[in-house]
Amino acid sequence: MSGEQPFIEIKRSIAGGDFAIAGNISSETKTILQQTGLPPVFIRRVVIACYEAEMNVVIHAYRGTFTTQIYSDRILVVVDDEGPGIPDVSLAFQEGYSTAPPHIREMGFGAGYGLSNMKKCSNQIAVDTRVGEGTRVTMVFYLNSSP
Ligand SMILES: Nc1ncnc2c1ncn2[C@@H]1O[C@H](COP(=O)(O)OP(=O)(O)OP(=O)(O)O)[C@@H](O)[C@H]1O
Ligand SMILES: [Mg+2]
Repeated sequence: MSGEQPFIEIKRSIAGGDFAIAGNISSETKTILQQTGLPPVFIRRVVIACYEAEMNVVIHAYRGTFTTQIYSDRILVVVDDEGPGIPDVSLAFQEGYSTAPPHIREMGFGAGYGLSNMKKCSNQIAVDTRVGEGTRVTMVFYLNSSP
């Protein structure tokens, strides 16, 4: 698998706290995936997970990069941020757990379902995080395998 080149690579930067453009990378990814002719059910689960990952950087971190690689059999998404990191990753995956402050909840975020949604929508998810430095979320979506 090493050395294999993706058909398409999309690399974008995410601005923490900028709700005016939050979600734009996921929307663009959706448009690109639709142009590839991949099955809508597959695209849907990729885009849901992308949106949750993008919003987590906007809400919880300072800045990040969003990289999507499209291969013949899978899509790889890596979201890397500079931010506070996650002190307890298994707690963060629990449905309903959120540290989002009140002003974020007023905007309709912070229900605490993002990471569990990402886990459900992807075939593999890894969260590498360092408190005080940042977080990297890696997700793999296999075309011929439901999560
Ligand atoms: N990139 C990140 N950097 C720092 N902390 C994060 C990051 N992503 C998630 N977290 C932490 O994990 C918690 C759970 O994340 P999750 O996405 O499940 O819920 P949420 O973002 O709080 O709410 P929702 O996704 O439902 O709007 C967050 O409240 C936050 O404490
Ligand atoms: Mg979230």
